[in-house]
Amino acid sequence: MSQLKVRSLKHVPTELIVPGDKSISHRAVMFAGLCEGTTLIENFLSSDDCLCSLDAMKAMGAEYEVLQTDSRGKPVKLTVTGHGMQLKAPSETIECGNSGTTMRLMSGILAAQSFTSTMAGDPSLSKRPMKRVADPLSLMGARLEGQGEKISAPITIHGGELEAITYTLPMASAQVKSAVLLAGWNTPGKTTVVEPVTTRDHTERLLAHFDVKVVRDGHAISIYGGQKPQPKDLFVPGDISSAAFWLVAAAASPGASLTIKKVGLNPTRTGILNVLVRMGARINDTVETSDGEPCGHITVQGGNLVGTEIGGLEIPNVIDELPILAVAGALARGVTVIRDAKELRVKETDRIAAVARNLRLMGVHVEEFDDGMEITGGLDLHGAELESYGDHRIAMAFAVAGLFAEGVTTINETECISTSYPGFEKHLELFQREPLDPETTIPVISSIPSEVSERLAKD
Ligand code: S3P
Repeated sequence: MSQLKVRSLKHVPTELIVPGDKSISHRAVMFAGLCEGTTLIENFLSSDDCLCSLDAMKAMGAEYEVLQTDSRGKPVKLTVTGHGMQLKAPSETIECGNSGTTMRLMSGILAAQSFTSTMAGDPSLSKRPMKRVADPLSLMGARLEGQGEKISAPITIHGGELEAITYTLPMASAQVKSAVLLAGWNTPGKTTVVEPVTTRDHTERLLAHFDVKVVRDGHAISIYGGQKPQPKDLFVPGDISSAAFWLVAAAASPGASLTIKKVGLNPTRTGILNVLVRMGARINDTVETSDGEPCGHITVQGGNLVGTEIGGLEIPNVIDELPILAVAGALARGVTVIRDAKELRVKETDRIAAVARNLRLMGVHVEEFDDGMEITGGLDLHGAELESYGDHRIAMAFAVAGLFAEGVTTINETECISTSYPGFEKHLELFQREPLDPETTIPVISSIPSEVSERLAKD
């Protein structure tokens, strides 16, 4: 079991580049693998989760060639060659590891294939509800078998020719929306998903990137089945959910100014910036390229944060950032209230319970609700021994909390960090050491292969 020991913050770097976006990387390899032809993908997130999606596509006939690797030898620049929308039946169970996105999006793809397949996951994924995708896919005519009432993994999907439906999502979930749209993509007729609240729209944007038309009318998103995707190269912007950890660390440090470069600025993902502004941070974000997925930079200037309320329509836009925003609440003067976030209970762990427990161990007063929590911030945090509960975002959020605590904070079971942010520990280290001589300070560019970063520097 790996452990992270965090010491107090020494300084905030001025520039960082975070690895590629997780949601976009999953979709990039899935959709490229359904094209007939080859797609070049740059700045792919070589995290454990996204590699599961890549391996799954390979098991079903797509090929990939690695053009560049990161320091762990994992692909960050690659070509994916697909052979069209009809995949090959996998010879073995598809292993999805910790990745809910792989399992749920792949369910939509597999439901419309003419074979039976099985997907399995790690103990955390095996506890998560797959009924939310099984319900609409069954309405379309697929047969899904899983474990117990929640239809949890391992799940077996008997795919075949489906019927187009109009489906109103019972919860705000981009994964469920995507599963239905992806099944509809390979089904004759028009499939429509109605979402209660706008959720991340990477599926819609990425399908459009591959020349597949998806139409939005208010909260209804429709796709016509049978459209052939066209391969087209793409660059994956940095993940704003990974940037979130450093945005909060800088926002809570008076005098700090941190710029995150080449990061995704899709408006369905930038809710954290609004929340931090409400909490008193000064933020400037600029879109530099907007072909498909907006990408640009964010500069945050730190100050004395104040508490805020986070809830309602804003929740899907900050869903993955709520653990680190709860930490921001603990560092802010006054009370921070998070409501309408019951979905956090069915993430990689129950994130409401995990955040409340860890904040309390650091000396923060937290009241837990069924759908959120109230945090009384502004008191000194003290170091403690904390559990990640095997959840990458809990591990990273509390590593940042540790930067602001007196003494050492120990986080157990931190191997899960590689689920979404390989290289996190190296970036964390920058906050824990004295600044380099300004004469010799160089921007910290991680995970982006040198030739890409050189090209980006010229842009
Ligand atoms: C994701 C959607 C969200 C998010 C997850 C990634 C996606 O999950 O929490 O990390 O890529 O579509 P839900 O769809 O369950 O809200």
